[in-house]
Amino acid sequence: MTSIREYHERTKHSVSSVRSNRHVLEWDIQPVPFKIYTTLDPIPLPRDFGGVQLSALQAVAATAPREPRRAQPDVRTLARLLHFSAGVTRKKTYPGGQTMYFRAAACTGALYHIDLYLVCGDLPDLPAGVYHFGPHDFALRRLRAGDYRGVLVDATAAESSVAAAPATVICTSTFWRNAWKYQARAYRHCFWDSGTILANLLAVAAADGVPARVVLGFVDGMVNALLGLDTEREVSLALVPLGDQPGHPIGTPPPQPPLALATAPLSTREVDYPLIRAAHAASAFSSPADVRAWRAAAIAPRAPAAPAAVALHPLADPPGRALDDVILHRGSSRRFSRRPISFGQLSTALHDASRGVPADFLSQPSASLADCYLIVNAVDGLGAGAYAFDRERGALELLKAGDFRREAGFLDLGQALAADAAVNFYLLTDLDRVFARLGDRGYRAAQLESAIVGGKLYLAAYALGLGATGLTFFDDDVTQFFSPHAAGKGVMFLVAAGVPARSM
Ligand SMILES: Cc1cc2nc3c(=O)[nH]c(=O)nc-3n(C[C@H](O)[C@H](O)[C@H](O)COP(=O)(O)O)c2cc1C
Repeated sequence: MTSIREYHERTKHSVSSVRSNRHVLEWDIQPVPFKIYTTLDPIPLPRDFGGVQLSALQAVAATAPREPRRAQPDVRTLARLLHFSAGVTRKKTYPGGQTMYFRAAACTGALYHIDLYLVCGDLPDLPAGVYHFGPHDFALRRLRAGDYRGVLVDATAAESSVAAAPATVICTSTFWRNAWKYQARAYRHCFWDSGTILANLLAVAAADGVPARVVLGFVDGMVNALLGLDTEREVSLALVPLGDQPGHPIGTPPPQPPLALATAPLSTREVDYPLIRAAHAASAFSSPADVRAWRAAAIAPRAPAAPAAVALHPLADPPGRALDDVILHRGSSRRFSRRPISFGQLSTALHDASRGVPADFLSQPSASLADCYLIVNAVDGLGAGAYAFDRERGALELLKAGDFRREAGFLDLGQALAADAAVNFYLLTDLDRVFARLGDRGYRAAQLESAIVGGKLYLAAYALGLGATGLTFFDDDVTQFFSPHAAGKGVMFLVAAGVPARSM
């Protein structure tokens, strides 16, 4: 059996792995970027769901909902949450006639392999059920009628936010929709692309006053069976309980016959990547007792270290651009000018994006598995160089001074974006610590948390009037670049931010 560490090693990019990879994109089997149930009637979601008034920066920084708390989301709130996290927000038709439907959150290759499902009790305007969210027609489809939340309570060993939630969103990935281009590395993208969605979802929930939390500890088979997934191809990744009604016990779920619902084929042929399935199986839980033990090992906050460091200076009066406006108008930068950003902008982005993630694998949001390293190319008020972010002290530790544009432009697989960006944020994790404490399942947590922080950095950059893009990377070269400080750490996520240039 493949261990998750083996998966990580085998899917690292290096100069030689990229050079020797003979993979070519087979355009005739490009998968459809939507899961379409062919026999279920759509239940249209309201499109008059309103905006999200809180400033994007405040929403990104929030680790709990602002008052007033919305204990039970209604359908308009759910429509807002779904739209601003996984909805279609832009459409672009190319000269060949192909139309691309871009989504609220960035996604590797714009392949959109993440689907969202909803499991809820009776809501004021939605009967209890298990639903799939279809971004293509902005509608829910009911897979099961009845209150099945008890299945999630059992699957999570009665995780407290799941047990009190009127509704829970579940992220899944259909591997082929991403593996078509990225092969086995697509398993990492399951978490990267869920992470950007969840960064949006958590921000919108915080702005709307809806309690929300990321739950990664669940018995995989129970959740997958509830959604009727063909687990060779699609699996559940994360649960996000929404709302909080602790005084309303959840009853025993109705019988759960297997589902065999027809869906439109993604392509005429699919290619299987067994390494993905093996990695997922290696990090699966088979009993609530496993889940309980895992949650008991949740990571605690770290004591601040005390190296010589430059304190962050967030802007005293940051831009108040509303979250919905930021999400609707964002788009990954395709080119950066080499113009600088200010140290205030960098500080604000880093400060707000790293306030913490409410998650079951962290004992509190101030704990984290993600260590942020930076290559600063052009920041007024901060020397160019490589830095480590000391999250606990809100300060940057200079690792080496100098112009590292050339190195940055190599580390992202030779793309000009990281060389031209004002700053690159690399999220690394101490994999030995993760495995020692959280076992193989910890890999999912480390990837997802870094991606959520990356998604928050993305949003914060746009909120500050800057551009941003996720980037892929040469794994070991990044670690080596930041070593000895980063020695032994694995690279989870990379975001570049700067002043966008007009595309050529
Ligand atoms: C984790 C991650 C990695 C990405 N890697 C790259 C990359 O290496 N090169 C690139 O040009 N774009 C990259 N992108 C940007 C995607 O191509 C972009 O998000 C997608 O085309 C959707 O467009 P949008 O973000 O403008 O909505 C990445 C995005 C994410 C979320």
